[in-house]
Amino acid sequence: MLEFRHIRSRMALLPLIFLLMIQGVYSADDGWGVNYSSSSICALKGSTVIINCTYEYPTGHQIMKVFWTNTDVRQPNNDFPDLSEDSEYSQRIQYLGVKHHDCTMRLTDVRQTDSHEYYFRLTTYKPDGKWIGAPGVTLNITDLQLESSGERVIEGHSVTLTCKSRCSLTDRSTFIWFKNTQSLSERTDRNNQLILQSVRREDTGNYSCAVQGHNLTSTHQYINVIYAPDKPVISVNPSGEIKEGDSVNLTCSSDANPPAEISWFKGETSVASGQTYIISKIRSDHSGEYKCKSINELGHKYSAVTLNVSYPPKKVTASIIGSGEIMEGDSVTLTCSSESNPPVHNYTWFKVNKTSSVGSGQTYSITNINSSHSGWFYCEAQNEVGSQRSVAVSVTVLHSYYNLLLGITLGCGALFIVIIIIILFIIRRKQKDAKTEDTVGNQQGDLYCNVHASESAHCEDHYSSVTPKGHRTDQTSAGKTPESGDPEEIQYASVHHHATKEMKSSEEIDNTYDNIRNYKPDAAVRSNVEETSVIYSSVK
Ligand SMILES: *[C@@H]1O[C@H](CO)[C@@H](O)[C@H](O)[C@H]1NC(C)=O
Ligand SMILES: *[C@@H]1O[C@H](CO)[C@@H](O)[C@H](O)[C@H]1NC(C)=O
Ligand SMILES: *[C@@H]1O[C@H](CO)[C@@H](O)[C@H](O)[C@H]1NC(C)=O
Ligand SMILES: *[C@@H]1O[C@H](CO)[C@@H](O)[C@H](O)[C@H]1NC(C)=O
Ligand SMILES: *[C@@H]1O[C@H](CO)[C@@H](O)[C@H](O)[C@H]1NC(C)=O
Ligand SMILES: *[C@@H]1O[C@H](CO)[C@@H](O)[C@H](O)[C@H]1NC(C)=O
Ligand SMILES: *[C@@H]1O[C@H](CO)[C@@H](O)[C@H](O)[C@H]1NC(C)=O
Ligand SMILES: *[C@@H]1O[C@H](CO)[C@@H](O)[C@H](O)[C@H]1NC(C)=O
Ligand SMILES: *[C@@H]1O[C@H](CO)[C@@H](O)[C@H](O)[C@H]1NC(C)=O
Ligand SMILES: *[C@@H]1O[C@H](CO)[C@@H](O)[C@H](O)[C@H]1NC(C)=O
Repeated sequence: MLEFRHIRSRMALLPLIFLLMIQGVYSADDGWGVNYSSSSICALKGSTVIINCTYEYPTGHQIMKVFWTNTDVRQPNNDFPDLSEDSEYSQRIQYLGVKHHDCTMRLTDVRQTDSHEYYFRLTTYKPDGKWIGAPGVTLNITDLQLESSGERVIEGHSVTLTCKSRCSLTDRSTFIWFKNTQSLSERTDRNNQLILQSVRREDTGNYSCAVQGHNLTSTHQYINVIYAPDKPVISVNPSGEIKEGDSVNLTCSSDANPPAEISWFKGETSVASGQTYIISKIRSDHSGEYKCKSINELGHKYSAVTLNVSYPPKKVTASIIGSGEIMEGDSVTLTCSSESNPPVHNYTWFKVNKTSSVGSGQTYSITNINSSHSGWFYCEAQNEVGSQRSVAVSVTVLHSYYNLLLGITLGCGALFIVIIIIILFIIRRKQKDAKTEDTVGNQQGDLYCNVHASESAHCEDHYSSVTPKGHRTDQTSAGKTPESGDPEEIQYASVHHHATKEMKSSEEIDNTYDNIRNYKPDAAVRSNVEETSVIYSSVK
């Protein structure tokens, strides 16, 4: 009875222990049990994971071995692998369970390959005293991913960067942002997002994020801020004055993203494409405005530059104002013209075969001219670039009008005297002939008469050849064809043309002879006779 009572009292204690065991929550299967703080742990790559763990085993057992394993499949030795003996883990795993029933484990520098389920294993000295804490703890190792709302962002627009991982990073996590490995401490962040409002071109770069307290940065995200070309800047090389023949480089620079395409225009005409337009051996006609067009997909802009090509004087021409024949005592002005850039600053006048210059200025005047001024003159035009001379022009000084008149008067007087002498000679000869030969005189008279009779028209013509009326009559009476008449007309015309006021009388005589020769080309003898008759007629 007493013993039974004793047993009953012991049994009364049992519910207390049970309650205690119930409070333990974990599996109390025969007193065996492993309690993990959580069934799954998500961790960032590179971080350190601590798995909190407690365990229970039935009383009467003595712990032989405790370890962590990563599989619930038995190995050939009929047990699970001990991670502390696995080279993959041995350096990184640490059993922290210093206290009794504490099986906390630490794994450092976790890797993607550490993503497994982990179990705590305990064995006691009793043959069936073995336990594995399954289900275990699932480790989920993850990277940080950076996502953006767009890779190509137009300047002025906004872009949102989001730092993501497969683990649900809590609101308590603080995110750190990097641009090209420099932290952006001044940027405002909201949760795991970085919002770049109204991006500038300087915002272009590689972005990444990190979670404070973790030795892990996200993947990089390249943000490319694109923008239309800036107004191009043109540089001219060499700078400064451009001379004809120089080689000139025009370079157009314009900031743009994507890089701008450059083309060159002169006026409206496209002359080149590419950043540098090379004009080798520039000419004066290259002067003018050049435009550079900078274009990309977002827009275009122009800039212009004006080239001013300077060159030495060209087409230098000396000319005489008025005629080149100048009377003594007159004045004459020579002028020099040329093309040049910059304009000619110095005109110099020279006379051929005179070493020193005779004058300067664009015009050169000689007053009260005399024959010593006759000669060839040229000018030389000079600007900053060079000089060029003209071909020479001739200045011919004629004798004065007075001298000319005097000469003509003297000449006429001399001619008059000669004619008088001839007349006297003929009269004297006639008188001599009349006295000595009467018969011959008849014959001569006939000849004279014949000449007179048959060629009377011609005799008249000789006079009339100077006057238009008589000339016409001659043409009709002789019955000449218009073709043969033409030379006469030319002859007549030339007679009139050559005649000058002073020389009229002497030229008349010459022309009369000319006319006669033309009228009678058929008979040379007769023309001789006619000549004689002509002398008579002209004397008459
Ligand atoms: C593990 O235990 C320690 C204290 O023992 C505690 O600070 C830590 O938060 C626990 N970890 C987890 C994941 O529960
Ligand atoms: C098992 O885990 C629960 C909750 O985490 C805890 O309250 C309890 O004390 C643990 N039991 C043991 C024996 O560690
Ligand atoms: C890690 O967690 C994600 C979501 O929380 C899940 O989809 C994935 O399967 C997990 N990986 C492992 C190895 O448990
Ligand atoms: C951004 O990263 C890419 C490769 O990830 C690299 O080629 C590039 O040079 C980086 N740019 C800058 C500005 O760091
Ligand atoms: C972070 O990781 C790198 C290598 O991945 C290591 O060299 C460095 O010591 C780590 N820093 C910390 C604070 O853990
Ligand atoms: C112009 O450009 C060409 C090619 O780039 C170069 O060889 C030359 O020296 C440049 N000339 C000047 C005047 O800058
Ligand atoms: C060109 O340059 C010259 C000086 O070298 C100057 O006299 C001239 O006015 C310029 N012409 C233009 C069109 O700018
Ligand atoms: C004009 O040229 C002449 C000769 O070349 C020179 O002697 C004179 O000094 C120049 N005058 C000026 C103003 O350049
Ligand atoms: C200049 O002089 C040379 C000989 O010294 C001569 O042959 C030439 O005809 C002269 N020219 C003029 C235009 O006088
Ligand atoms: C011509 O005129 C110049 C002055 O213009 C004078 O020196 C020279 O003696 C004159 N010559 C003659 C032949 O009159």
